[in-house]
Amino acid sequence: MPLSFSLRHDAPDALDTPLLAIILPSEPTLPEALTALDAQFNGAITRTITRRDFRGGKDETLLLVGGERGVQRLLLVGRTAAPLTRTTARRAAAIAARQAGKLGTGAMHLYLPGADTASIEGLAIGAAAGSWSYPDLQTQPPEKDRRARLESVTILADDTAANRAALEVGVATGEGQNIAKRLGQMPGNYCTPESFVEVGQDIAQRHGMQITVLGRREMADLQMGSFLCVAQGTTQEPRLVALEHKGGPADQQPVVLIGKGLCFDTGGISIKPAPEMEWMKFDMMGAAGVMGAMETIGRLKMPINVVGIIGSTTNMPSGEAVKPGDVVRASNGKTIEIINTDAEGRLVLADLLVFAKRFNPAIAIDAATLTGAIVIGLGGNAVGVFSTDKAAADEVLAAGIAAGEPGWPMPMWDEYKEQIKSDVADIKNTGGRAAGSITAALFLQEFVDGFPFVHLDVAGTAYSQSDLGWIPKGPTGTPVGTFVEFVRARAQQ
Ligand code: BES
Ligand code: MN
Ligand code: ZN
Repeated sequence: MPLSFSLRHDAPDALDTPLLAIILPSEPTLPEALTALDAQFNGAITRTITRRDFRGGKDETLLLVGGERGVQRLLLVGRTAAPLTRTTARRAAAIAARQAGKLGTGAMHLYLPGADTASIEGLAIGAAAGSWSYPDLQTQPPEKDRRARLESVTILADDTAANRAALEVGVATGEGQNIAKRLGQMPGNYCTPESFVEVGQDIAQRHGMQITVLGRREMADLQMGSFLCVAQGTTQEPRLVALEHKGGPADQQPVVLIGKGLCFDTGGISIKPAPEMEWMKFDMMGAAGVMGAMETIGRLKMPINVVGIIGSTTNMPSGEAVKPGDVVRASNGKTIEIINTDAEGRLVLADLLVFAKRFNPAIAIDAATLTGAIVIGLGGNAVGVFSTDKAAADEVLAAGIAAGEPGWPMPMWDEYKEQIKSDVADIKNTGGRAAGSITAALFLQEFVDGFPFVHLDVAGTAYSQSDLGWIPKGPTGTPVGTFVEFVRARAQQ
């Protein structure tokens, strides 16, 4: 059951709720609106503040136990001294939702004093993030031992048109992220290229989008030798899925979103070491991000044309697999010398970028878990943002900040191109360890013809190998928010 959200302008002391979460800044003072509730709690809220049991720090929580009726549990959640933004509201709401899940309250009220529309968006996204899970493959405990899942969230705010619209944006973004996270958390034997077809068809049907699905045959007809060489080692049907959202004027050039969808990346013949290889089920988060963003864009009926393109396969070693030294030809005619079969994402993306041209993009943005080097360079806190077009990069960077998925600009200087020159083909698929994320981006640029292009390397940010406090380890929702905020800003221009 999806989480249900509502807005209500109720006095905190007049509520009947199993859980009221109140989000407060560092070293808070008691907000006016809580005076009566504090009295109901015999002054306990004031005491926790004056004793500094609760200091409003990052991710800090304190639970006060109430009576049988009224506010039955009161959770104070810290949001630090940082200014109140969409992102700080998101984090605090996620913490609250995780606590609600642990308590098993089923329902929760959220109160953020001073909430504006941006923070209402953040609260909804955060509550969705903090209550997300993937229980499908785990045997459930018997009913009596089960904790109720969080099913309803009520935000205490005025029920105005602006606040309702903000809630709608937040809920739609949360749903888009849920779709991406679910695909990500699904093991490689459950999430296959066919899963992207199914999810794509579902999105297309519900939101009236046009869908195109290509398999090995159709891609061979289009001479996608780069994408197809990656799929050579698997018996699974590789899939290219394109979704067209036509929310703008017929003659408006679309924003094209592109995603790398490796349902598993063993490295192929250049096989990866065994330790932690299981994390390579997340090598499809770029494609999952495109699907999630298309869901959000469709739900919100954004008045703009957007195309989402994903390329999905599995990188496997086999007797048929592509080998180091092989030369393949991409659909734009360029030849590629395969140096390392583990640099497969860029091979898939190359043909997707050529394919994108047919939609006459206003701009194309790809997201890919492309390189280990970006994990070394930026870690889990910044998306690598690559573009030869400064204005386009800045626009994507702004979208990333709005979404709470910050990026950092990386250079794409010509000097680095030396590293991907080949003796036998037009280009090599790897340029060595030095500047590995940059040479990967420069490789992609070779397949872009006549439209602005921004590449997002999300290898460090699309999933986390440790619990982040506000969300558990696993998929983070990045890059759904960045895509959505970019398109939303363009739609408002
Ligand atoms: N999917 C990986 C990149 C990756 C690494 C994502 C770690 C997340 C965490 C990609 O296909 C890959 O294997 N890249 C190679 C390229 C190299 C062979 C030039 C890498 O980064 O090591
Ligand atoms: Mn790889
Ligand atoms: Zn990969």
